[in-house]
Amino acid sequence: MTAPWSEPFTRLAALFAQAKQAQPKDPNAMSLATVDANGRPSVRIVLMKDFDEQGFVFYTNHASRKGREALATKVAALNFHWPAMDMQVRIEGGLSVVTNAEADAYFATRPRESQLGAWASLQSQVLPSRSVLEQRLADLTKQYEGQTVPRPPHWSGFRLAPDRLEFWKAHPFRLHWREVYERSGNGWAKSELFP
Ligand SMILES: Cc1cc2nc3c(=O)[nH]c(=O)nc-3n(C[C@H](O)[C@H](O)[C@H](O)COP(=O)(O)O)c2cc1C
Repeated sequence: MTAPWSEPFTRLAALFAQAKQAQPKDPNAMSLATVDANGRPSVRIVLMKDFDEQGFVFYTNHASRKGREALATKVAALNFHWPAMDMQVRIEGGLSVVTNAEADAYFATRPRESQLGAWASLQSQVLPSRSVLEQRLADLTKQYEGQTVPRPPHWSGFRLAPDRLEFWKAHPFRLHWREVYERSGNGWAKSELFP
């Protein structure tokens, strides 16, 4: 069965709206799996900040472990789990970096403390002691006093363009529903999987 391009995105928009009601704390939290050059996977939570038919956007330090892996392999997988709705959505696809204009616009919406934090944190590097981070933050706070905090060049967004999405809904006796969309031409090949 084939489905139009917009179908999984329309479904997801409806689910996000439902998730905001069902679990107000971080309904946009998603697991992000990346892989290194040797095929070793790693996974962590990030927040999905934007989504449309082009893909799913998250922001991070591009020199972090995930950032380096994402830049090197250009693929990733996402997983939304909404326990209050007994649902998960699994997404796989290719990564691209958002435009500087897009990243700047989002960075400008962040609280000043988070903007300074993005500069202060050498994400994923060894921190010799907490005081090193606190001192970096104090120095940066002083440096940018009375000024707009610019976006660090190493801090930006990635957009994951999906080529596979799976909607999973719990059903009694482990007879769960699994519906998969796989990219096919301008639309999707849609199928069901055994649970
Ligand atoms: C609810 C939640 C939301 C998070 N959101 C982000 C995020 O949007 N971006 C980010 O870089 N890290 C976020 N983190 C922290 C990451 O899970 C992770 O610890 C950090 O990015 C370092 O990962 P890495 O060393 O694999 O690169 C979040 C963690 C949690 C629990």
